[in-house]
Amino acid sequence: MTKENKNITYLDRNESQYGPSPACFESLKQPDFKTLSEYSRDYTRGIKSCLSERLAHEFNINEKNIILGYGGEDILKQVVHCYIHKGDKIMIPSFSWWYYKKIADEVLGVKVEYPIVEGKDSFYYDIDGMLKIFQEHKPKLVLISSPNNPTGNRLEIEQIKMVLGKMRDTVVVLDEAYTLFYNKDNSHLKEIIEEFPNVIIIRTFSKYYGLAGLRIGFALMGKNHEQFSLFSARYLGFNRLSEIIAIAALDSKEYYDGMCKKMNDDMEMFFAEFNKLKGFKAYKSFSNFILVKIPLEIKENLNKYLTDLGMIVKFMSEDGLFSHIRITIGTQEQNSNLMKMIKAFLRDNPVK
Ligand SMILES: Cc1ncc(COP(=O)(O)O)c(C=O)c1O
Repeated sequence: MTKENKNITYLDRNESQYGPSPACFESLKQPDFKTLSEYSRDYTRGIKSCLSERLAHEFNINEKNIILGYGGEDILKQVVHCYIHKGDKIMIPSFSWWYYKKIADEVLGVKVEYPIVEGKDSFYYDIDGMLKIFQEHKPKLVLISSPNNPTGNRLEIEQIKMVLGKMRDTVVVLDEAYTLFYNKDNSHLKEIIEEFPNVIIIRTFSKYYGLAGLRIGFALMGKNHEQFSLFSARYLGFNRLSEIIAIAALDSKEYYDGMCKKMNDDMEMFFAEFNKLKGFKAYKSFSNFILVKIPLEIKENLNKYLTDLGMIVKFMSEDGLFSHIRITIGTQEQNSNLMKMIKAFLRDNPVK
């Protein structure tokens, strides 16, 4: 029995509240005998999986340049475990998904942080600062997240290319787990992996496609990753149900376009509404979550108030983000309920 309560709204985990497309559920109704009882045998066709084949087709790249994994989490772990050994340096953004530091610790890597700084209405990568630290430390691997979790900021494609140009001989992992919420143009992928042989770009079906429970992600990589390809090889194939459902998601463009439009509208609503509230500051975000600075004096009581109403958002506690909440963009109803709850709280607990 799971302890999760159905009446609670979880806007703290960056999971999709709209869920996957109806076609994903439909595809689950048709598993045949072979899908469940046999290995895929896709390797006999010289490919890893029908999914990597489909992705190669979508991005117009060679299937050999794609790897699949058990979510972006698994691919990040694999890359770090493949390339980083005790004492090797790994560059990580100052504000980032906690997991980056965890995997660096797993292999006894040396973490070198580079700056993400607060601007007028968003956080941003301090690219000069980042390149200076890169020159000074000469890390073995650099992790870049665009859009970044939890700050929500992104790098423009031209900025990414500039940075990759300066780090040409180093393994750079570009985590694009959240990218589709803002940018559906994938043309940079082929260009980047062809131009930068050491890059690895990570994507996932968990966020935009609403398939976090399926645990499937993939990466596109430049041509210098023979070692990593061998490291991540799965000779008996992949989870065949995941392959089928992920392909159904790729075929559901219309569903996801509609969902994304609603989420982007609500992102704008949150940004405008929070910035009107005394003592609040919302940061521009290009993902499915928004970071908001709140008056520290209300942090504890607001947390209790929302929790009692069954509305869970992430109250941050890390250095530099102690006065912040991160809200996953939910359905239109959930988002509007959350806004109403916060305004009602502020009416009874005005900020001084
Ligand atoms: C920045 C970032 N990258 C990757 C992931 C991995 O997601 P998954 O393992 O579900 O693909 C997450 C999950 O929260 C994330 O925040």
